[in-house]
Amino acid sequence: MFYTGELTDRVSFIELPVIEDQRGDLTFLEGQRHVPFDIARVYFLYNVPTDAERGGHAHHELHQVLFALSGSFRVTLDDGRSKCEVFLRHPRQGLLIKSMVWREMDLFSQGAVLMVVASLRYDEADYIRDYEQFLRIAAEKSI
Ligand code: TYD
Repeated sequence: MFYTGELTDRVSFIELPVIEDQRGDLTFLEGQRHVPFDIARVYFLYNVPTDAERGGHAHHELHQVLFALSGSFRVTLDDGRSKCEVFLRHPRQGLLIKSMVWREMDLFSQGAVLMVVASLRYDEADYIRDYEQFLRIAAEKSI
């Protein structure tokens, strides 16, 4: 995993623990311990075509942590002021994305699995799917 550009203060990395033995590696996560919220929802993306683009939205309130359980993909992040790119490729390394960050995911490797741990249950009203609207709200909130 590496990033280019400036990571905003609304995005950070999380490294999960691992228990290694001859039978394989075991990694776990608990809400309020390894991720900074109670876990309300988990979802995962798989069978993603290598030319697919996912995301393309921000959230009013939702915090999420993304993991590349298998393979790799790129995440482009934008808090309305600066942008950065992150390549996720290790199952133990999570990307915490707080609310009000525009995200796009692409360059999925063959067989990539993206798992998301989320702070809220699914609610379409929490999505901001229009980029210009996102920029307006981000500008208002930073005043
Ligand atoms: P969306 O969040 O737009 O996908 P992505 O950001 O990964 O490209 O969700 C795609 C569709 O799935 C949309 O119709 C909403 C639905 N959905 C749920 O019903 N529950 C969920 O938890 C999520 C994440 C999506």
